[in-house]
Amino acid sequence: MRLSQCYKFEDFRKLAKRRLPAPLFHYIDGGADDEVTLNRNTAAYDEVDLVPNVLADVDQADLSVEVLGRRLDMPLFMSPTAMQRLFHHEGEWAIARTAEALGTMFGLSTIGTRSIEELGALTSAPKLFQIYVHNDAGLTSELIRRCRAANYDALALTVDTIVAGNRERDYLTGMTTPPKLTPRSLLSFLTHARWTYNYLRHDKFDLPNKSASVDQGARVSSSVVDYINKQMKRSINWDDAARMIEEWGGPFAIKGVMSVADARRAVDVGASAIMISNHGGRQLDGSRAPFDQLPAIVDAVGGKIEIIVDGGIRRGTHVLKALAMGATACSGGRLYLYALAGAGTKGVMRAMRLLRDEIERDMLLMGCSSIADLEPAMVAPRNNKRSDSDAEGSI
Ligand code: LAC
Repeated sequence: MRLSQCYKFEDFRKLAKRRLPAPLFHYIDGGADDEVTLNRNTAAYDEVDLVPNVLADVDQADLSVEVLGRRLDMPLFMSPTAMQRLFHHEGEWAIARTAEALGTMFGLSTIGTRSIEELGALTSAPKLFQIYVHNDAGLTSELIRRCRAANYDALALTVDTIVAGNRERDYLTGMTTPPKLTPRSLLSFLTHARWTYNYLRHDKFDLPNKSASVDQGARVSSSVVDYINKQMKRSINWDDAARMIEEWGGPFAIKGVMSVADARRAVDVGASAIMISNHGGRQLDGSRAPFDQLPAIVDAVGGKIEIIVDGGIRRGTHVLKALAMGATACSGGRLYLYALAGAGTKGVMRAMRLLRDEIERDMLLMGCSSIADLEPAMVAPRNNKRSDSDAEGSI
């Protein structure tokens, strides 16, 4: 499989599987426990159908949306994900350059492998910095200060990872960061010579945004589970979120909100956005899919806060379904991570361009010339026992 043969999510996934040593592939690919939530995140989109309007006189579709203080040229952006240079030596550069080329936003993680300053200087593309609150009490304020100095547009506080999810594939493969040669992983590194050569030849692995005093995960190999369980602060609460929002004073998202009550609290503490997310099915298995939870959240807080749907998106039509049901924008991680692993910047550009083109084509087929034209009546539940109102297309 070559990059030019990749069209859909599964194609990029196959390419990544060929290129990556097994511990790294399964770290991206896997979820928590039985991976029920991981699978449900995408399956949820197939339980509703789009109902297009025709003869709508649409010549072009404007895909732009306003989110977290920036106008994006497309309604799908790249969620923050950790440790990207493990998957391809270009790492976060690839994501930042793609965001710039396509006019969309990217997220950098607290446990990213390029520094806040380096990416700030690299591009003026819309940038989100994702905060994990660590036990190191000074780290959060330091990150906020660094993001302000480097002109980041927005912060996202991740709230669903106070302990690590039970990722059994990682136990089996012996996944660590930085990668460690063990009897289990050795064969996998030897048989993926191109990855191993690139990893050894390029800048030494580092996590330049976390506490400088902590070597775990950057210079001392650690499993991701151990890193999260030792370094992340568990007892974070709504007052902490409110303080961070005040300290930052700009667009601020809370990432990992699932309940209606929490969506309301996010409005109360002054967040600009919530990201409905279960961390790609990597944390609480059995947690509801973001798309399933969207209607209740839109009912409760729609119009009061921006609503970003993160997780399970594989196709342009998934984005259209979420937007029609009231989301402000969508985001995803694996949808660009496999492409990064498979082919670096070229791969991410191709994956995101294909998704952008899908969204555009599907907007025209829906009879929509702008995102505002998408409305709830254009989405209907898939079942055979339809009530009269369902038959009209409302959900
Ligand atoms: C993950 C964290 C680190 O592995 O974001 O999902």
